[in-house]
Amino acid sequence: MTDTLTPILTKFWDDPQSWTLATYERHDGYKALARALTMEPQAIIDAVKDSSIRGRGGAGFPTGMKWSFMSPPDGGPRYLVVNADESEPGTCKDIPLMMANPHSLIEGVAISSYAIGCEHAFIYLRGEVVHVYRRLLRAVEEARAAGHLGDNVGGKGVTIDITVHAGAGAYICGEETALLDSLEGRRGQPRLKPPFPGAAGLYARPTSVNNVESIASVPGIILEGSDWFKGMGTEKSTGFGIFSLSGHVANPGQFEAPLGITMRELIELAGGMRGGKKLKFWTPGGSSTPIFTDEHLDVPLDFDSVAAAGSMLGTRALQVFDETVSVVRAVARWTDFYAHESCGKCTPCREGTWWLRQIMNRIEAGQGTQDDIDKLVDICDNILGRSFCALGDAATSPITSAVKYFREEFEAGMTTPAHELFPPEKSVLF
Ligand code: NAI
Ligand code: SF4
Repeated sequence: MTDTLTPILTKFWDDPQSWTLATYERHDGYKALARALTMEPQAIIDAVKDSSIRGRGGAGFPTGMKWSFMSPPDGGPRYLVVNADESEPGTCKDIPLMMANPHSLIEGVAISSYAIGCEHAFIYLRGEVVHVYRRLLRAVEEARAAGHLGDNVGGKGVTIDITVHAGAGAYICGEETALLDSLEGRRGQPRLKPPFPGAAGLYARPTSVNNVESIASVPGIILEGSDWFKGMGTEKSTGFGIFSLSGHVANPGQFEAPLGITMRELIELAGGMRGGKKLKFWTPGGSSTPIFTDEHLDVPLDFDSVAAAGSMLGTRALQVFDETVSVVRAVARWTDFYAHESCGKCTPCREGTWWLRQIMNRIEAGQGTQDDIDKLVDICDNILGRSFCALGDAATSPITSAVKYFREEFEAGMTTPAHELFPPEKSVLF
């Protein structure tokens, strides 16, 4: 089974001091940058396009295409902004990546910046992770001292520098345009799109906003070639990705594997279900994606197969819940989260998530009313596709999918509290 794994980004995370420049260079670090600097910027964009890598932040938009959508150079500044505001419930791949191997991101930023003509890149980091902030600052200093960043990168007269910016802990600042507002010093709220950031992003200049894992994958594509990358994964979801298994598996953690691996294989790699319990439900890409059940264990975890099965691959945050867990309680916690994180800009999400929270908490307490399930579905219907950004839609996904697969548990919530149906002491997580 372990042949299924493709440790590339995670290859030497277990090395002592894996985060230092010395360790990274021992593993061919910054060789891709040296090669990239011998190439024309357009050739780098073409290689990334040819690899067909799709964004690893959740939406799966092709990275090379995003770069090529940027407005043509006009002599003014252009920006690369790395979205490191990882906050999706269950998602935990970018933060370990930046802790264990920050130089893979920094090298990716240097190559990507050179490709799109950016002289000053930003890494927008989730504010709560102060330890990652310190590690990135140190790694940027190391890279600058070694000439991998600065005014004369690789002795080629190329200027590339990085500012690491820590946000203030709002989930909405992971939405790319809210992130840009926050970076500009404003309250982080989504902007109207279009214009997309490629046309008018940071300081209204052409900007590419890319996920940490997408950018950290670029050095490999430059060093090994786009055919190497395309040789893994599926035809339309090429390459590898970090799958984060959490919850009721024996050995939770990061499993780097080709896209298209199944949940059944991953659970086996994680040592099976904890305590031999039965799987009840799971999320393919964090709480923003409709839940799956044991019916979906053999769905290939690539963008299209997961979509065809009724969910989204998202950030590959695979949260596993066994038979001891109340689906109502789990969904109620996620709903609390979305109601709390709604930025308040648009009415369907601001008001709708508040109503969803009241009803979910009522059902969890065993005080639901006869029409609560219909109300939940109706409110979700009025949020989905009517909200200003993806947060509103995301808030509805766990609810509508849980009602679809576990309606009887919602019905039971009209008379019996979730803690009586699923006593927390019998469950590890709740
Ligand atoms: P989106 O599909 O609207 O956009 C994805 C990317 O493609 C953006 O960078 C956008 O600018 C670009 N794009 C889309 N259409 C374009 C066009 N016509 N021209 C130029 N560029 C275009 O998705 P969005 O709202 O940016 O992200 C939602 C995703 O974020 C969800 O799928 C969710 O899984 C993920 N997410 C990830 C989180 C995390 O912690 N990593 C947190 C919350 C959500
Ligand atoms: Fe803000 Fe929610 Fe509207 Fe997004 S959907 S703009 S988070 S209120």
